[in-house]
Amino acid sequence: MTVAGIDLSATEFWGLPLAERATAFALLRAQPQTPFFAEPETPFSELGPGYYALVRYADVVEASRHPEVFCSGKGATSIPDLPVEFNEYFGSMINMDDPRHARLRRIVSRAFSPRLIAKFQDDVRRAAASVVDDLLAAGPCDFVANVAARLPLKIICDMMGIPDDQYDMVMTNTNIILSGADPEFLSEDMDQAVVQLLGAGQALADLLAGLAAARAEAPAEDLVSALVTANIDGEQLTTAELASFFILLVVAGNETTRNALSHGLMLFSEFPEQRALLLADLEGRLEGAVEEIVRYSSPVLFMRRTLTRDHTMNGHDYRQDDKVVLFYYSANRDEAVFADPDRFDISRSPNPHVGFGAPGPHYCLGAHLARRELTAMLRELMTRVPDITAGEPDRLLSSFINGIKRLPCNFGG
Ligand code: HEM
Repeated sequence: MTVAGIDLSATEFWGLPLAERATAFALLRAQPQTPFFAEPETPFSELGPGYYALVRYADVVEASRHPEVFCSGKGATSIPDLPVEFNEYFGSMINMDDPRHARLRRIVSRAFSPRLIAKFQDDVRRAAASVVDDLLAAGPCDFVANVAARLPLKIICDMMGIPDDQYDMVMTNTNIILSGADPEFLSEDMDQAVVQLLGAGQALADLLAGLAAARAEAPAEDLVSALVTANIDGEQLTTAELASFFILLVVAGNETTRNALSHGLMLFSEFPEQRALLLADLEGRLEGAVEEIVRYSSPVLFMRRTLTRDHTMNGHDYRQDDKVVLFYYSANRDEAVFADPDRFDISRSPNPHVGFGAPGPHYCLGAHLARRELTAMLRELMTRVPDITAGEPDRLLSSFINGIKRLPCNFGG
């Protein structure tokens, strides 16, 4: 592989075996210049000016820390510019800057309080146990459908007060929204793809409208009630803000932790000595294992920022309106920060990975919840099915989500 042969905008790049992908990013990190790429094509807009790929840890951290220079409002989840309404509809505050971002985050953080999350701690434990009950009854099966997808889906739906009979519908639509370039979920016909995406957003917005109306009448102990009734210094979410935030939460709540769990099983299969280490002191090493799974797999591969003005960072001169893409996946393998970065090592300490984003105003709102889900599921699996192993994954074709669609698992000899 040569640097000249690497094109991060080519769909095929994201289908390469994971080890080759890691090698490509190592080559890019070793370049003296920040690499620049032409933009990928998209059904939604004209071809843009291209982007700088921030592949080093120092650049990713610095850009995240300075949102006044590296803004999210022109789009954080897509490299091509999308219409503003589209960004907000699907991305809510992830695609906003202050003061709007701060206002939204203030309102929802209250609703997403540690008290509410703590209340779900027991539910997370119980849900993980029941998923593993079913796994043991089913025997070897597809780990994604039977295990990894089920816990985050149940927890985010319970938190929102979404009834069980809507789980499939939520999963189908969040899959479409974060399907990337994968033809299994999104049509290759561009007009058709737009219709599918908008339809998925609308289906979730309709679900929220029904829940919000019911909770406004009779508030319950769920997140939708807290959001409908949140009134911080006289500020409340508008109906449109509530719908977009709801879409962001169900998508982010579902499509990330699921992949971290699947990668976790793959990693403990590929590195059996790390499994042995974990099993030798489960409670002592669970926390380190969860952080290392998120570092190593980086379920969210990138976020984008756009320069608000000319600015020099780590020796590179950027111009106003330049686009930069923060490749968390690459920052998390930066040999300047992580010794032997391609080694999965649950005892890595410190482990300052940027899998949940780097410190800054957009740092993952769901990080605590995700950590609790990953810890609970890993504990159940390692206690009750410690010999579970992964077969060959069927990976999602996406530059944004390091996704696993299907993963056969085996256990019991
Ligand atoms: C392993 C699981 C997860 C990973 C790897 C992950 C990753 C990320 C990353 C990288 C960002 C940074 C965005 C940026 O800087 O522009 C982010 C933001 C966010 N995440 Fe997560 N996430 C995970 C789980 C969750 C869960 C479970 C939820 C909700 C239930 C959630 C909700 C959010 C929200 C709302 C934001 C936007 C915050 C803002 O813009 O202020 N995430 N996540």
